[in-house]
Amino acid sequence: MTSAYQKMTDAELDAALAELEREAADLRAAGLKLDMARGKPSPEQTALSRPMLDLVTSGSDLTDGGSFADNYGDPDGLPSARALAAELIGVDAANVSVIGSSSLNLMYDCVMNGYVHGIAGERPWCQQGTVKFLCPAPGYDRHFTVTESFGIENVPVPMREDGPDMDVVRELVEGDPQVKGIWCVPRYANPTGVTYSDDVVRAFAALRPAAPDFRIFWDNAYCVHTFAGEGDPLMNIFDALAEQGGEKNLVYEFASTAKVTFPSSGMAWVAASPADMAELRAAFSAMRVSPEKISQLAHVRFLKDAAGVAEHMRRHAELVAPRFALVEEKLSAGLGDLGVASWTHPKGGYFVSFEGPEGSAKAIVELAGELGVKLTPAGAPWPYGADPADTNIRIAPTYPSLEELGKALDVFVVAVRLVAARLARAERA
Ligand SMILES: Cc1ncc(COP(=O)(O)O)c(C=O)c1O
Repeated sequence: MTSAYQKMTDAELDAALAELEREAADLRAAGLKLDMARGKPSPEQTALSRPMLDLVTSGSDLTDGGSFADNYGDPDGLPSARALAAELIGVDAANVSVIGSSSLNLMYDCVMNGYVHGIAGERPWCQQGTVKFLCPAPGYDRHFTVTESFGIENVPVPMREDGPDMDVVRELVEGDPQVKGIWCVPRYANPTGVTYSDDVVRAFAALRPAAPDFRIFWDNAYCVHTFAGEGDPLMNIFDALAEQGGEKNLVYEFASTAKVTFPSSGMAWVAASPADMAELRAAFSAMRVSPEKISQLAHVRFLKDAAGVAEHMRRHAELVAPRFALVEEKLSAGLGDLGVASWTHPKGGYFVSFEGPEGSAKAIVELAGELGVKLTPAGAPWPYGADPADTNIRIAPTYPSLEELGKALDVFVVAVRLVAARLARAERA
């Protein structure tokens, strides 16, 4: 793509550069302090869940069927919490464990179990020499950090508009027994907003891994986070496995209410085949007697069921959708006809993935920082922070107020334009 700056004569480009440098100097002088780096709900969003805090008090009934929230027991979580979790991701509650407040923590525990104890009777990964995980990129940096922290080799896989490139995934998973896992965010992926197509989900279910201890880490973090109506349809991976016939031990699915109720004070869960769950339960039983259940009780009393969650998420969407609309509006108005950038247009989730000219992302993030706008570090959505073309920037629009977000986007647009114009100038030097 040839940019408007590349098409300019030298004189036109110098004039455009001078104007942009002036705009940047004005912004620098304004001393702004804005933040578009954080994939967090805004204070108005977390306020939606405050009534939950009144539902479990000293006078509350703390029983749940035959279970007790105020004592040990139910290592897989309260029955009602398991039922809610299972309904939200469309699985049998018998195959769900609701544990703790962080799905990332559960993912870590599952990786650690493979690393320390081994999966499906295979030797622990720590005794198998080089072990690899596939990382569709751009993706969620904290996934990559989990596997990197164990010394597992993170291998980037291209992300397409309908999910990871399954030809590449199939070749690596079926051809290389060192490949033990893949990180997936199947609905409204972080950061692209992509939802995997049925073909991609079926292709995952049809994998015949070279390693018997390979598992798909299916992080359905944004399964209920849609901006309008039903949102993007996502085929249930366990239904896709059932289509194949027979029991296949292939998928660990994770989710949480982190961005439904309170980040770090929600409830998190994992689901898998009966055999995989038996193995995970054995590992979890060495970690704790039983999970924190009072929070589970509050969640169930507040959210009730999938319909209750959908209603609650509609109220989140009323706050979130205008912010995403503003991103679209500001980027289209500021960059739309310059041919310097493209970005995603998600219908749910928490992020917009932005692509600038080659070799621009680090410079844009740095310049925006100088002008008072903090962005996620360039390269973060790639394993080892290494974006090969230095083009990708993750935009997180949920936390700032609409007014702050508008100002931050104006700064971002100036930073993109100035870096693109500087690159066009440097090409001619
Ligand atoms: C894809 C994805 N998975 C997991 C998490 C973290 O979830 P939790 O708070 O349940 O650990 C996030 C948070 O941003 C995320 O984007």
